[in-house]
Amino acid sequence: IVAFFQPKSLAGKNILVTAGPTFEAIDPVRGITNLSSGKMGFAIARAAREAGGNVTLVAGPVSLPTPRGVTRINVQSAQQMLEATVPQAQLADIFIATAAVADWRPAQASDQKIKKDGSGNTPQMSFTENPDILATVAGSERATSGALFCVGFAAESHDLLAHAQAKRIRKGVPLLVGNIGPATFGADDNALLLVDAATTVEVPRASKLELARHLIAEIARRL
Ligand code: CTP
Ligand code: CA
Repeated sequence: IVAFFQPKSLAGKNILVTAGPTFEAIDPVRGITNLSSGKMGFAIARAAREAGGNVTLVAGPVSLPTPRGVTRINVQSAQQMLEATVPQAQLADIFIATAAVADWRPAQASDQKIKKDGSGNTPQMSFTENPDILATVAGSERATSGALFCVGFAAESHDLLAHAQAKRIRKGVPLLVGNIGPATFGADDNALLLVDAATTVEVPRASKLELARHLIAEIARRL
């Protein structure tokens, strides 16, 4: 009831969020993925909706309920995530890339299940680099002209601050959010590092939903 009377900081805004891992097929029954739970991205979609935004969530394979009032598009691979995200970004005011997109996919997915040959030989696999969804959207005319505000995430195992600062510039985004480890994948809480051109601010450990609400307020303030 209290929330109902609060001012809606994202009223009338279109917010696009990517979340979860991607799944890169090896053959019809196997693939490569990662341990992203999607929880942070889903919490951000929920918080953006609570703030009055029209929210579209492009989700990799996760078993999480869709936040109320959010439009969800399910995808598997990085290529599918790109194809779902790029047209939606044409309509968005804010793009928040939380997905743990697989950096590489098997160069050739087999259309038949790969069988053991009985002699102990193992399959040899080569990889192709996946498209960078955030860099693609952040390089678009809407983003470079300031009509679309892009936010990136970074999960690093070491040197978070230096990597986050470098990544913000490399991706060409005004705001980069670092996950302060350890082991944020799958956890219900986290701590964040917000890196923009001027400042670095730590958001102390809290539930992912509380962090998401804080981040949405920070983004709304910057629009
Ligand atoms: N990202 C993306 N598409 C990719 C790879 C990453 O949209 N193919 C986005 C992520 O959603 C995140 C940001 O880019 O918002 C940073 O992802 P991260 O994996 O930390 O960075 P990379 O550029 O892939 O570099 P590396 O994994 O080598 O650190
Ligand atoms: Ca990566």
